[in-house]
Amino acid sequence: MDSSHMGNDLEHVLYTEKQIHARLEELAADIWRDYHDKDVLLVGVLKGAILVMADLMRALPGSAPMDWMAVSSYGSGTKSSGVVRILKDLDTDISGRHVLIVEDIIDSGLTLNWIRANLTSREPASLEICTLLRKPEAAKVEINCKYVGFDIPNEFVVGYGLDYDERYRNLRDIGTLAPHVYS
Ligand code: XMP
Ligand code: MG
Repeated sequence: MDSSHMGNDLEHVLYTEKQIHARLEELAADIWRDYHDKDVLLVGVLKGAILVMADLMRALPGSAPMDWMAVSSYGSGTKSSGVVRILKDLDTDISGRHVLIVEDIIDSGLTLNWIRANLTSREPASLEICTLLRKPEAAKVEINCKYVGFDIPNEFVVGYGLDYDERYRNLRDIGTLAPHVYS
């Protein structure tokens, strides 16, 4: 779905599909420089990261397997609490593997902090994080993230996999919603 089909639901576009793809190409090059000889496993976090994973992995100059986790973070509305439950675990045993977590967004960082601790306990050979978006002003825990697409202001964003109440994931661009959508 293009931004032009959003009516007045969208307040403004932060990044266009074209800008996102260009940045993912750069990240893919950085990632491949570090992992071309390492048999890296890409681990996506459902559902938000589906489009980041799809475009990032196709931008890699070589082949890499992927796996997925689904978690739920308990919290009210648009805020995460850091209390996490695994809804779908990895199919892969990551012990001794080089793992790269692929995320859509780091907001408070609480969810990813939990996921990182959980995966670390499985003793991977290495564990790094790639996120398309990060909100530095919202951070409640410090997450050492090796590959970051864009640092964004502390606003709720949708599109390119990111949802509000499961809607707008299919928006091609990333943008903020108009206040009337929330009420
Ligand atoms: P935390 O706060 O734990 O974020 O870093 C947990 C998850 O919440 C989702 N999230 C968002 N989803 N727009 C969204 O559509 C946002 O601005 C946003 N901020 C956080 C996302 O799934 C993240 O992994
Ligand atoms: Mg997510």
